[in-house]
Amino acid sequence: MFERPAHIFAIAEAAYRTLKQRLINTCIVISGESGSGKTEASKIILRYIAAVTNMSNQAEIQRISNILIQTNVILETFGNSRTNRNDNSSRFGKYMDLNFDYKFDPIGGKIQHYLLEKSRVVKQQIGERNFHSFYQLLSNKKSLQEYGLYLKPEDYYYINQGQCCKIDRIDDKKDYEKAIEAFKVVGFTQDEISTIWKIIATIIHLGNLTFTDVDGEHCLIVRSNDQNDQLEWISKLLDCEPSDISSALTSRVVAARNEVFQSRQNVTRAYYGRDALSKALYERLFEWLIKYINKTLSQDDYERRNSFHKRIYDSFVIGVLDIYGFEIFENNSFEQLCINYCNEKLQQLFIELVLKQEQDEYESENITWQHIDYFNNKIICDLIEQSRIGILAHLDEACQIVGTVTDEIFLKSINKTFKNHKHYSSWELTPGDKIWKNIDTNKLFLIRHYAGDVVYSVDGFLDKNRDTLYDDFKRLLYHSKNSILSSMWPDGEKSITSVTRRPLTTATIFRNSMISLSDLLSSKQPFYVRCIKPNDEKTANIFDQIRIEHQIAYLGLLENVRVRRAGKILVEKYLEIFYIFSNKKKKKGFCHRALYNRFVQRYKIIDCVRSKLHPYGPFNKESASYICNELNINNDVVYGNTKIFIKQPTSLFQLEKKRTEGLEPIVVILQKHVRSWKQFRIFHRENSAIRIQNFYRKYRARNYINQLNELFSDRLGKNVVWPQSRSSFTTINNVLKQMYQRWRIKQIEQRLPIKLQSTFELKLLAGKYLQQRPLFFDKSIYQEWHGDYLLEENSRVKEYQKSINELRTKDNFNKVIFSTFAVKLNSHIKMDERAIILTDKYIYKLDPKKNFPIKKSHISLDDVTGLSVTSGKEQLIVIHLVSNCDLVFYMQTKIDRVGEFVGHMAKLKQKSSNFSVNVQRYVSTNIAKHKYVINTVWDRVDKVAFNKSSSNNISLVLPDVR
Ligand SMILES: Nc1ncnc2c1ncn2[C@@H]1O[C@H](COP(=O)(O)OP(=O)(O)OP(=O)(O)O)[C@@H](O)[C@H]1O
Ligand SMILES: [Mg+2]
Repeated sequence: MFERPAHIFAIAEAAYRTLKQRLINTCIVISGESGSGKTEASKIILRYIAAVTNMSNQAEIQRISNILIQTNVILETFGNSRTNRNDNSSRFGKYMDLNFDYKFDPIGGKIQHYLLEKSRVVKQQIGERNFHSFYQLLSNKKSLQEYGLYLKPEDYYYINQGQCCKIDRIDDKKDYEKAIEAFKVVGFTQDEISTIWKIIATIIHLGNLTFTDVDGEHCLIVRSNDQNDQLEWISKLLDCEPSDISSALTSRVVAARNEVFQSRQNVTRAYYGRDALSKALYERLFEWLIKYINKTLSQDDYERRNSFHKRIYDSFVIGVLDIYGFEIFENNSFEQLCINYCNEKLQQLFIELVLKQEQDEYESENITWQHIDYFNNKIICDLIEQSRIGILAHLDEACQIVGTVTDEIFLKSINKTFKNHKHYSSWELTPGDKIWKNIDTNKLFLIRHYAGDVVYSVDGFLDKNRDTLYDDFKRLLYHSKNSILSSMWPDGEKSITSVTRRPLTTATIFRNSMISLSDLLSSKQPFYVRCIKPNDEKTANIFDQIRIEHQIAYLGLLENVRVRRAGKILVEKYLEIFYIFSNKKKKKGFCHRALYNRFVQRYKIIDCVRSKLHPYGPFNKESASYICNELNINNDVVYGNTKIFIKQPTSLFQLEKKRTEGLEPIVVILQKHVRSWKQFRIFHRENSAIRIQNFYRKYRARNYINQLNELFSDRLGKNVVWPQSRSSFTTINNVLKQMYQRWRIKQIEQRLPIKLQSTFELKLLAGKYLQQRPLFFDKSIYQEWHGDYLLEENSRVKEYQKSINELRTKDNFNKVIFSTFAVKLNSHIKMDERAIILTDKYIYKLDPKKNFPIKKSHISLDDVTGLSVTSGKEQLIVIHLVSNCDLVFYMQTKIDRVGEFVGHMAKLKQKSSNFSVNVQRYVSTNIAKHKYVINTVWDRVDKVAFNKSSSNNISLVLPDVR
């Protein structure tokens, strides 16, 4: 961009990049005289933007790009024409806004058009053509019959005036096909396309419509009996009655003082009306086309689908202005004045935005600079547009005067006003001037435009400015049965008698639109494409030096060339180079400037300065100077009051390069943050799900427990079956079952009488050890355990008590806890009848036959290691001792007392860690250190007996009572 020759792609890229990087709306102003290549340049810009923004290849973006390009084809068909300066001259001004979304992809656009040269529809100079659309329709032989166009193009008046219907460089037939294709891409329906061509055909027919005078004041349409009856065809094509068309063309309906009457037209007025109708038909069609295209391109559609981005992209716009170029013809009329005035305005804008602002800036920034003289064309703009005294104001005034004000009177009035104006002259003011040589008409005046002198003829100025169209035509077309055509004429709906305000004149509309265009462009960062026309021959490879030098001079490009010669390159983006910096011996320009704030903001991320500059500022001159020092470019910058000015592009490149390098680690940090944020969100979501699950599980468990509570609350849950539950509740169910058991026991215990509570406690203890022996329990928990049964079931209680008392005195135990009669097994595997007494310290074996003397020594409870009992009803007890000589006895009782014995024993051994109770079908025991297994048999015996059945087996024989 800085080092290569100017290229349109580079300008488009610069405008697009400025929008993207600096978020500033931009516009590209294309200027140059007619035929210099403005329209071509605008197409290249459009193609470039469509290509660079189309990376993602999304269907929608491609559609928009496609439409943007195809609209050009339609607009050129209907708005371009052959002139003596350009075979494809734009006869309207076009400003196109391209809208971009937040990704900077094109999402729509809007076209604004300026003054279509509609007079061309009815009149062309020699060597010029009407708009391309007419020739394209006539080239399509297939459909001519449909439109009644049987004659050769040369035979149609509106087509043939330039005497060049066919030109080599234009292939109308091919262009017609392209236009049809473009219509389809943009979205026109078949009906709409057909109506468009019908209107064109109508205008061609209107051109050949002739009138015949009746009596000097009235006229009639000339009809023919063959297929070329124009009125017939116009009626068919417009879908209106022939009589209505005829009366609209030959008479006028006038309303005065609430009375409506018809006034007949003479031939001249009728031709005037016909031409006005043709021009208006074409103008309305053109406006309708632009409106239609804008609707297709509008963001509304996109917004509806992507409302999310609505606010963001509203501001992202690149405007492209391709407006008719400065033109000088043999015969210059009102249109040329408007076109050339438009070019003056653009030049003025260029001066305002680039040259003047530049000068102001140097002054305000206190920078030394050398002024380059330039011509300020404000004086010419004022001459034309100034309110009340400008040429256009005079024209408007002349149009407003009722009566017979002619073009000549208008000329006289401006001659008077501007007789001393440097840029104005006329035949009347300076008849001797060489410009007027060989001319003897007082209809001419001259304006010295910035681009050259142009002689205008005032002929038709007033008419063109008034642009009158009789309401009869509006009503006629509004009532057409073709709804598309009718929609182009909404103002035809008004009644004849309704009062309408005088419409604005063409000059006023044009001047206003130029002023608003200037405002629009100056609100954006402008980029300029200056087109130079190399020759007037419309051919390649001819370089007319004088013509080119002239253009360079008036476009203000000479200064540009001087800067280039000095080695500084002009780049549109940095238009500032028009001024030459001169505080050094060598003259230098600036390639870039920026506010300190923006400069430091942009370059503070460069690696070597990042650590020193605080991320939040201050972003002032010192910080900017620090950056330049660090990068060693201090000699190449100048510090203004609020801005820094960079001279050499290389310094700017260096800054940009370092910035791009500095961006990488920052991008990585940003990526890290975004990734971690994304992961955190995922984690958070999952975590939330888990929390929700937990809450739900708790809720379910609570429900389950409540359900259990209800179920078991009645009668402490007696006979209630534990409900089926989910498998996930298995663990908690076991705990719950235990809890329930404990709770139930506690409840039962609390309800028991106090005297039974100690028994109950023993029963629980026994239960704990005898789980596999379900039958141990008494039928009722209310059954009390007395323990010392020899006090109750003994016929010699006194002897027993006496013996116990003696033992208590001797051995110092507290009380007898349990006593029973039993058959005991001795070390010879023989039986002895004994009374087994369990006290709180010892176990005694007393002989029940002889006053209960103690047999052998007592057994200390400390020596007891455990018990073994059978899992059946047997009352067999094996007390395992440390000595490995177990005490084996069978209790002689009718009631099951194994549980009671185990309960007492367990309570006594509660503190002993190694006490255990074995419950087995076949109990093992050690007798005299020999191991035996005791198995139970039932036989017809009277008493319980132990028999040694083998060396390791002892049979416990029980009376068979089953
Ligand atoms: N870049 C180009 N490459 C090839 N030919 C070009 C180029 N630019 C212009 N031309 C030729 O010049 C002709 C006129 O160009 P163009 O229509 O763009 O002029 P213009 O400046 O738009 O004129 P006007 O003001 O009359 O609309 C084109 O039809 C084409 O033949
Ligand atoms: Mg053009």
